[in-house]
Amino acid sequence: MKVAIIGAGYVGLVTGVGLASLGHEIVCVEKDVTKINEINAGYAHFYETHLNDMLAKVIKDGNFKATSEISDALFNADISMIAVGTPFSEGEIDLSYIRQAAMDIGVNAHLASKNHVVCVKSTVVPGTTINVVKPIVEEYSQNREGIYFGMNPEFLAEGTAVHDFMNPDRVVIGADNSIASQLLTDLYAPFAGVDIKIVSIETAEIAKYASNSFFATLISFSNEISNLCSSVEGVDVLDVMNAVHLDKRISPIIDGQRITPGLVSFLHPGVGYGGSCFPKDVKSIIQFGQERGHALRLLEKVDEINVKQTSEFISLIKKNIASLKNVKVGILGLSFKPGTDDIRESPAIKIIHELTLEGANIHAHDPMANHAMHQILSPKYFVKYHESVDSLLHQVDLVLLLTSWPEYKKIGILDVCKNMPIFDGRRFLNKYDYPLYHGLGLNNQHGKKYEM
Ligand code: UGA
Repeated sequence: MKVAIIGAGYVGLVTGVGLASLGHEIVCVEKDVTKINEINAGYAHFYETHLNDMLAKVIKDGNFKATSEISDALFNADISMIAVGTPFSEGEIDLSYIRQAAMDIGVNAHLASKNHVVCVKSTVVPGTTINVVKPIVEEYSQNREGIYFGMNPEFLAEGTAVHDFMNPDRVVIGADNSIASQLLTDLYAPFAGVDIKIVSIETAEIAKYASNSFFATLISFSNEISNLCSSVEGVDVLDVMNAVHLDKRISPIIDGQRITPGLVSFLHPGVGYGGSCFPKDVKSIIQFGQERGHALRLLEKVDEINVKQTSEFISLIKKNIASLKNVKVGILGLSFKPGTDDIRESPAIKIIHELTLEGANIHAHDPMANHAMHQILSPKYFVKYHESVDSLLHQVDLVLLLTSWPEYKKIGILDVCKNMPIFDGRRFLNKYDYPLYHGLGLNNQHGKKYEM
């Protein structure tokens, strides 16, 4: 099948490359010419595990290309997929890129195949495909016959997006008629045996929010319990949550073997969720509920707890350090999670801001995100970026761990960490390896504040 993908961001590019590797002919439309050139040379403009290898292969096989010409992409295309950004700005979801994509598709719809599905891949609030995309495409295509509509949410997590695409747990297809659902089902036919859910377009739209909101809720729940634990002597939230994880309704015992589901990795305390999805999706669905006169009170709290979680961490530091003025603070981890160079909504940004206000001198290390952080913080914030963990550790007075990159696990063996306060914002390190260890959800204040 031929598919035009509008937008070559994380979702568009990974989806396009994935579909091309299944044998489909993919043309990805992107406005930024530098990105197009990079992509066509086999290099994604962002880091994603295995993406470049797969991109190079599908280009070589002739199944994939990027272009600025939507007419080229829509020519004879069976499906056009809208995979543009839907940021949350000024209190609501910003649909301007969606509208523009719908307009461009409408104008070029005469070039598409006899039966053509316009499918929204971007995360959009319920009703957007039918009430926003459809009328625009119909207007600009002058009601061309044979155009149908669909919504196919993505469930790709950054860092594992290529693996997630190639090994789907489910495919959700929202369609407005049987031709649309058949064409979209055919697209995923190579994934024989995978659960394909055919639902209404609005169901598909809301399923994506329900999924992300559920995981965000688990995280904020864990953080709320964690904050409680830190106020009770002798308690460690990790032991508390472990007792929860072992409930057989969460981690069943099958044939004598304990099964630990992926869900457990979202029941862990930390400095809060970031990234381009959870924060904006929770806020967008809250706003959608308000507009419908249906307040989403649980999700409002989920968001509130998350926004406040970086302050909980700063309080933990301030409880133990007499003053942060001129203290050299080393931050390990800047990306919103390990395995990516993405810093969007990363808790590190707020923490750097707060520490700078306190007069601390910030040193930072991230295996991938130093450059990205420098680009958004400079020149307002002065941060000294280190190429190696070792270099950072030898120049700071205390350490904050903000992203659980695997390479940070082993810093406990270094002598330099034995005399330095360590504040673990992800409860990632082994607390017994560090004489001066402090972590969220752990009631282990020393009673006396460190003087730096
Ligand atoms: C998330 C979802 O997991 C994907 O299923 C979804 O497709 C994607 O959003 C999307 O909407 O496109 P992603 O944002 O890449 O994927 O990252 P996650 O691995 O889900 O982590 C999100 C955030 O939660 C990270 O900042 C992570 O550090 C944080 N987190 C995770 C916690 O703070 N605590 C936890 O216990 C687990």
